[in-house]
Amino acid sequence: MKKRILAYGRLNDDQLAQLGQDFEVQAFPGLASADDPAFRAALSDAHGLIGASLAITPELLDAAPKLEAIATISVGYDNYPVEALTRRGILLCNTPDVLTETTADTGFLLIMAAARRAVELAEMVKRGDWQAGIGPEHFGSDVHGKTLGLIGFGRIGAAVARRGALGFGMKVRYAMASPKPLLEAELGAERRELDELLEESDFVCVTVPLTAETEHLIGEREFALMKPSAIFVNIARGKVVNEAALIEALEMGRIRAAGLDVFEQEPLSPESPLPHMTNVVALPHIGSATHETRTAMAQRAVDNLLLALRGEHPINLVNETARRPA
Ligand code: DGY
Repeated sequence: MKKRILAYGRLNDDQLAQLGQDFEVQAFPGLASADDPAFRAALSDAHGLIGASLAITPELLDAAPKLEAIATISVGYDNYPVEALTRRGILLCNTPDVLTETTADTGFLLIMAAARRAVELAEMVKRGDWQAGIGPEHFGSDVHGKTLGLIGFGRIGAAVARRGALGFGMKVRYAMASPKPLLEAELGAERRELDELLEESDFVCVTVPLTAETEHLIGEREFALMKPSAIFVNIARGKVVNEAALIEALEMGRIRAAGLDVFEQEPLSPESPLPHMTNVVALPHIGSATHETRTAMAQRAVDNLLLALRGEHPINLVNETARRPA
C-alpha cells in the first residue's frame, strides 16, 4: 500500500503530481485549523505532512501514529514541537536558503520605508493633502552611511548586511551570533555585545530565530538603550520583541520609527495601535512572499518530503537525531 501524504500548503499542480507519483496525496487547500474534522480523520493514516502556518501540537501527533515526516514550507519552525517529533522519530524538514534573498529584500524595504516615511507620505498624497512643497516636518532620515545593527547574523542577517554595506555604504555591527570572520572581512562587519549594538546602531534589524532564549529578547530595557533617532526593524518573529514595550517606545519617542513584518499575534489584532501609528510601517508577514520564492520554497518542501519518505536524507533536516537507522 502506498504511503499517504496530507498536503495543506500551497502547492502547484506539478508539485502535487510529483508527490503523487509514488504516494497517495490528499490535498487540504486553504486549511485554516488542524481541528478541521476531515483533516483530523485523515491524520490517522498519514505518513507525511506538507504545508505551512499550522500549529502542530503533541496532541495532534497522537492522532497521527504512522507519521514519518513533516515538510514545512518555511525556514522558521517555532510552531513545531521539535523534541516531541524527535522522540517519536518524526523528521522535520524546513526550507532555508531559497528564501534568504527575498526576506532580506523585505528587511531593506522596511529600513527604507521607515527611514524615508514612504507609507505615511504616500498616504498623504493619496488623501489629496500634498498642497505645498515638502518641509522639514516631513523629512526622513538618511540610510546610506549609517550604522546597521543586526541581531542575529545567519543567512538572512548576512544578506541584509550585504545590502547595507555594499549598496548603501553602511557600517555593519552584529550581535547574538558566533564570530563570523569571513563576513567581517567581506563587509567590514564588527561583532558587539547586544547592549553595545543597541547603543551604537542607527538601524536595528532583528533576524534571530524565535527560541526559548530569544523570546522577548527586546523589551523596555533594550529600547531605552537605543538612540532616540533609531529605527527598529523586525523580519524574524513577533515574539522576539515585547510588543507592548515597542508600542510604548514609539509613543514616547524613545525610538523614531519601526518597520515590522511580524507581530506577537498574527494576523494582527484589530485593537493593535501599531498600523495606525504614523511612525510604523506594518506589513502582513510578507518576508518571503513573492511568486518566485514561494514556488521555490514549496518545491524544496516537496523534495524534502519525497526524500524523507523514501528513507533518504532530506536536503534540510531540522532534527537530525530523529533519523531512524536505515
Ligand atoms: C519563514 O519561512 O519562516 C517565513 O517567516 C515565512 O514567510
